[in-house]
Amino acid sequence: MIYQRLLRPLLFRFDPEWAHDQAIAWGAAATGIPGLLRCASRMHRVDDSRLNIRVAGICFENPLGLAAGYDKSGRAVAAMASLGFGHLEVGSVSAIPSAGNAKPRLWRLPIDHAICVHYGLPNDGAAAVAKRLQDQSISTPLGINLVNTNHGECSDAISPDEILQDYVTAADTLRECASYFMLNLSCPNTSDGRAFFDTPGHLRELLDRLASISIDVPLFLKLSPDWDDAAIDRILQTVDGFESVAGFMFNLSSRRRSGLATPREIWNDWPGAISGAPTKEWMDRRIVSLYRQMDRRRHRIIAAGGVATAEDAYRKLRAGASLVQLLTALVYEGPGVVRRINRGLLGLLEHDGVSHIDDIVGADVDLS
Ligand SMILES: Cc1cc2nc3c(=O)[nH]c(=O)nc-3n(C[C@H](O)[C@H](O)[C@H](O)COP(=O)(O)O)c2cc1C
Repeated sequence: MIYQRLLRPLLFRFDPEWAHDQAIAWGAAATGIPGLLRCASRMHRVDDSRLNIRVAGICFENPLGLAAGYDKSGRAVAAMASLGFGHLEVGSVSAIPSAGNAKPRLWRLPIDHAICVHYGLPNDGAAAVAKRLQDQSISTPLGINLVNTNHGECSDAISPDEILQDYVTAADTLRECASYFMLNLSCPNTSDGRAFFDTPGHLRELLDRLASISIDVPLFLKLSPDWDDAAIDRILQTVDGFESVAGFMFNLSSRRRSGLATPREIWNDWPGAISGAPTKEWMDRRIVSLYRQMDRRRHRIIAAGGVATAEDAYRKLRAGASLVQLLTALVYEGPGVVRRINRGLLGLLEHDGVSHIDDIVGADVDLS
């Protein structure tokens, strides 16, 4: 309530990217005050074994994680962990530092509880992020989202070999820091990111190269929700021979902007992808269809897109996700959202007479 009544109105008076940078800077500063983080953790953590879930051999205290894009360069992981998340995903991180796209590149749509993002993957690069993560120890599982470097619109064309090598270098540099890697195959904000993995051989080559340097961290693939079932099927066939691939999630769409309450003249000229509440329902449909398509004995889904309440998270789990993530709700609801969702999940389990969170995964999906 303090966040929504006082802090959010104040932060929303400022440029969205500046406000985001401040939040990360405060989190980074809090890292130097362990007593404060212990106190925050006591306030936010929901410690209940009914929420524990094991995915890809990793034990998660609860199914709710922080999505990639909030703490891009791992500056504030200790502070973010103290908010009660079951996992954190930092990134996207590339082999070489990147300034991302030109500013402005972030806008709020308050009526829709949404964000329009055209960051274009700014990050400090794998070596700097690895050093920073080694200096901050957290017990919360840490995913690292990897992507190829965005060299900017005016850079020379990059060859497929260089793009693939970029992922491999980043993975090699960060392997000691990650509980899992999320391979971002689908950034909606860069031209390379949208099209490169449409060519099926590129994914196979990437997985082969990661195997050749013995990356033994579980791999998740962040897919484009704009790929149709046939394209997803090709991805599933490609990963078939790779034990290291543990599952999938969907990124934001580079195309879809339907159902916004904000008048079109406000957002029509903004480049980028829409996150938050407007993505909720169609993302749930994509999860159901992926859950039906994939090998459920081998693969798991991490779901994001408009999670702001326990009901939103519960629906995604029942649609087939084993873990859920949020980002936009942290901006609109504040840090208390994590505890509210985890406590709400316990209430929903009790209401439905279910003893453990794992038992609801895919419960709403008709597999006949
Ligand atoms: C400001 C912002 C930055 C993001 N940056 C990244 C990123 O660097 N890499 C990535 O894979 N996804 C990125 N995303 C997508 C989120 O990880 C997440 O998949 C998406 O926002 C849906 O969750 P939400 O509706 O809870 O925000 C970003 C999203 C936002 C809003």
